[in-house]
Order: sequence, then structure tokens, then C-alpha cells
Amino acid sequence: MGIIGAGPAGLLLSRLLQLHGVDTVVLESRSRDYVEARVRAGILEQHTVQTLRDVGVGERLDREGLPHDGIYLQHPGTRHHLNFEELCGRKVWVYGQTEVVKDLITAQLDDGPPLLFGVSHVTPEDVDGGAPRIRFTDADGVAQVLECDVVAGTDGFHGVSRPLVTAGTSGRLWERTYPFAWLGILADVAPSADELVYAWHPEGFALLSMRSPSVSRLYVQVDPAEKIEDWSDDRIWDALSTRLAVDGWSLRTGPVTEKSILPMRSFVSAPMRRGRLFLAGDAAHIVPPTGAKGLNLAVADVTLLAQALVRLLTEKQTDLVDTYSDKALARVWRCTHFSWWMTSMLHRHGDDFDAELQLSQLRRVCSSEAAARELAENYTGLAVDL
Ligand code: APR
Ligand code: PHB
Repeated sequence: MGIIGAGPAGLLLSRLLQLHGVDTVVLESRSRDYVEARVRAGILEQHTVQTLRDVGVGERLDREGLPHDGIYLQHPGTRHHLNFEELCGRKVWVYGQTEVVKDLITAQLDDGPPLLFGVSHVTPEDVDGGAPRIRFTDADGVAQVLECDVVAGTDGFHGVSRPLVTAGTSGRLWERTYPFAWLGILADVAPSADELVYAWHPEGFALLSMRSPSVSRLYVQVDPAEKIEDWSDDRIWDALSTRLAVDGWSLRTGPVTEKSILPMRSFVSAPMRRGRLFLAGDAAHIVPPTGAKGLNLAVADVTLLAQALVRLLTEKQTDLVDTYSDKALARVWRCTHFSWWMTSMLHRHGDDFDAELQLSQLRRVCSSEAAARELAENYTGLAVDL
């Protein structure tokens, strides 16, 4: 198998296949340092945690990850705890995607199949036939050809795989760009709450998250045209303090170690397969970060894909590869809806009428067990095969 891209999707797929005796080569255009330094989201669903344990990379996660029973939902005057354990018997873990990627890379380089960083000109060929290949230039500048049975396009939103699938199928794309963005910071300060706080506020959404008992991760809603230079650390802390305020609580501040503005979009590309080229993760779909679904959705995709490919390559049965795209997309659309719904409920947009609708929805989730359970089930992760 040729796997293009060493994000969480490609690395985990390689690991899952290795455990079933399928040989893989992972090709990554960036350097190891670059891939390990990218700051991404940090909430893992129960299924994601279990999968990482099952493939032998759960040790540091079990030591350093923070299990959370729920989240807080807030609107001015009220901070309400939703207990996922009570609502649906599942929890989530705080553990940065960056750490997941580091653990997968370490395992792969220790005892796994080849993982090549710094490759360029990656070009899958003949994916419609039974013997595709990937041409690429290795880090030393030498042209190479990888002959393989199957190609996995796990090369993210800007990769080369999706355009090939779109060009060779009667596929479709759906896209929504939201009229707001997140300004996110990492700060060396103990989190000011025991679990995540999602706050609606007239001045815009804010999120209190964390990476460890001594590192906070926080976000404020900003206009997508905002420039990061216009947001001093003091301005960011002021916005966070205002938007997250509740009586009797205060926000701890500390040195900011990273800050950036993230655009928000929903994007789905179908189908997720062309012949022997299969897409998984951000190569096929993007969700806005409000429901923390991006990484978890990539893990669900590769769980389904690994099962299908093992069946194809070791039992020569095509049934699971034939249903892969439809099954994966059913879950993709569920998560796309959930992420859109959380985003729409929590971000300030529109007029006062929209604001009252949002507040009504928030009060409903905080007062109806049925409404809270619907959020809890989606947030903690639905079954991989819906
Ligand atoms: N050749 C080789 N590698 C490539 C190419 C290419 N042409 N194009 C992109 N890549 C690499 C990128 O450098 C990146 O390391 O593919 C990898 C894709 O990784 P991610 O973008 O992390 O995507 P994915 O593995 O699907 O992870 C899912 O979850 O939280 C979300 O968006 C977040 O990255 C996250 C995603
Ligand atoms: C994060 O910690 O980066 C994070 C947490 C929850 C989200 C999104 C991002 O919904």
C-alpha cells in the first residue's frame, strides 16, 4: 500500500494495516519537525482512544491524557455542566493531536514500515487499474516509483489525491465558509476550569480548553479579516475574560506561547474512492472545530478503510471496499451536521432575532435531558459504522 500524507489519518492507517500483515510505505512532503510542531485540536472520542490503545500507541495517552466526563455550556449568567457519562455512558480525553502524531511517528520509526519525510512531486498513477503506482522524488532528490496494490490519499485538504478522485468520478463537492474565525492561543497557565467551557456571548463565542494541568488552550471568535498583529496578548485576555465571565469565577492568565487565526469551513467531497485510490480524513472533508470532530472523523474513516483493505488484500473480497465510500460519508455527514449545529448555536452572527434563537436552543440543551443527550452522543462519538 502506498499512503500519501503522515497526518493522523495516514499514520494510523499504516499502523492498522501493519498489524494485519499488509505492507505500507508512507510518503510525507513535510519534515518530521514540521509535522510534529503543528498545533491542532485536542479532544479524543472514546473510540479514538480505544483505537490508539489497540494499535499499541496508548501508553503516553493513558499517562498524560486528561479524561473528561463532560463539558460546560455557557451563556451570560449561566454555566451549565453536561455530564456525558450520565447522559450516554461515554467520556472524552484531552490529548493534543500533535501528541497523537508524535506517538504514531515514534512507533512507526521504531518498528514500523517505511515513513519517508521531505518527499516531493508525489503523483499517483493508474489508479483505475489493478496495479497503481506512485511516482515521487525522495528527500535526496532522487526520482522513485512505488508499485502498490492500493493508494491511500490521506494528504489533507491541500493534497494531490482529492483532485484526482474528483477528476475521475462524477463526484460532488459541498462547501460552507462561515463569516467568522477563531483566534487561538496556547498559554503556560493552569486551566481555569476542570473541563472545557463553550461560551456564547453577545461579543462573540469563546472556548476554554487545555492541553495539560499546566497548559491552557483558549479561543475567541473574531472576524476572518482580523490580523493577528492587532491582537496583543492583553487584548486577547480581556476578550476571553469578558466572554467567559460568570459570578464567583475568574480567568487565570499567563505567558502566551502560540497564537494564530483559524478560518472556519465545512467541506465534503464525494465519493471517497476512485478505483484503487481511497480518500480518508481532511483529504475528503473539513469540519469547523466547534465540535472537535476533525481528528476523530479521520480516525473513524481509517478504521473503516483498514477493515475494507485487509479484506481486499488478504481475502481478495471486494465487498467492504465497495461500501467504504458510502459508509464513511454517512458518518461524515452526521459529523458535518453536528459541527455546523454547534458552530451555528454558539457563534454570534446575524441579528438580534438570531441571537434569541441561539439562546433558546442553548437553554433547551441545558434543561432537556433528551436535547442534552443528543449533544452528548454526538460529541463523544457515534458508532464508526452508522
Ligand atoms: N505528498 C505527501 N504528503 C502530503 C502532500 C503530498 N502531495 N500533501 C499534503 N501532504 C501531507 C501534509 O503535509 C500532512 O502532513 O499530508 C498530511 C495530511 O495530514 P492532516 O492535514 O493532518 O490530515 P489528516 O491526517 O486527515 O488529519 C485529520 O483532523 O483535527 C483535524 O484538520 C485536522 O489535521 C487534522 C485532521
Ligand atoms: C482544542 O483544545 O484545541 C479544542 C477543544 C475543543 C474544540 C475545539 C478545539 O471544540
